[in-house]
Amino acid sequence: MLDDLVKNLVLVKREFANNYTGSAHIQEVIPVSTSIQFPIDTNHLEMLHDFAQRNPIYFNSFEEKIAGTTCVVYEGDINEYWLNSIKHGSSCQPFYPTWIMSAYVMALVAKKLGYRELVDIGSGDGRIAFCGKILELISYSIEIDNVLVELQEKISKSTNQNFNPKCKDALEFDYTQLQLTHPIFFIGGLSQMGGDLLATSIIDKINGISNISHNTGLVFAGTNSKKQLSNNISHGGWGSIIKKYNLNIVDTVSLPTIWTFDQTIETPYIYTKFN
Ligand SMILES: C[S@@+](CC[C@H](N)C(=O)[O-])C[C@H]1O[C@@H](n2cnc3c(N)ncnc32)[C@H](O)[C@@H]1O
Repeated sequence: MLDDLVKNLVLVKREFANNYTGSAHIQEVIPVSTSIQFPIDTNHLEMLHDFAQRNPIYFNSFEEKIAGTTCVVYEGDINEYWLNSIKHGSSCQPFYPTWIMSAYVMALVAKKLGYRELVDIGSGDGRIAFCGKILELISYSIEIDNVLVELQEKISKSTNQNFNPKCKDALEFDYTQLQLTHPIFFIGGLSQMGGDLLATSIIDKINGISNISHNTGLVFAGTNSKKQLSNNISHGGWGSIIKKYNLNIVDTVSLPTIWTFDQTIETPYIYTKFN
């Protein structure tokens, strides 16, 4: 079911991107209703729309039939948030969101793998943590930028989904205070653009928490772009970190993101776990 969901989401994204004539800074789609192509729990689907509708980065929406599926197209602008997110001394990556539907699939995979807690590191507007919460994982959302965290708090309150937004530098945060038992960490950044700093800091911290170090998952956002990969081509740019820390790869799921909208490749999310 998950493989088909991913395949159909990518199909919809590619047809939408090919035919999009609007001029919005960012755009993404969410199916209107559950279907054979998108067999998603109706309540979850409603909550995904709720997240988009209550999120001020989107200023317009309309219905459109794409690849046989009626979807809502959400158009928005993240310029102001992007600028804020690069002002911090230890910012490892500016704000660029994944698609809401992709965030849902990512959390669904984490749920299927049996994790109990989801920790989104560099969480932007909190969409991955939000999706973890609606799937009944205990979610934490760590973000360095106060404007984005205020946005998360607003969405958390208005959707009635507490995904625990925290305005913290992920490099400094003390993860023992979350009392994690079986967590999965999503690292919010491409390896070559600062994500490697986030990842190594988290891995070192997890290694220092003896009761979870054998029990933890890490998800990396990779890239298939040859230009970005240059000389670090394996596992979407994460090969050397995976090797250095002896991580096991359990799955790779390629999904639409804002930054690959105009590309014919998607963003590979690499699910790994500690040995
Ligand atoms: C590429 S965005 C990813 C957003 C979100 N995870 C998603 O996929 O939609 C990276 C985010 O990481 C945040 N960030 C960068 N360095 C950070 C740090 N040291 N601690 C916490 N957040 C950080 C940025 O402000 C930005 O919002």
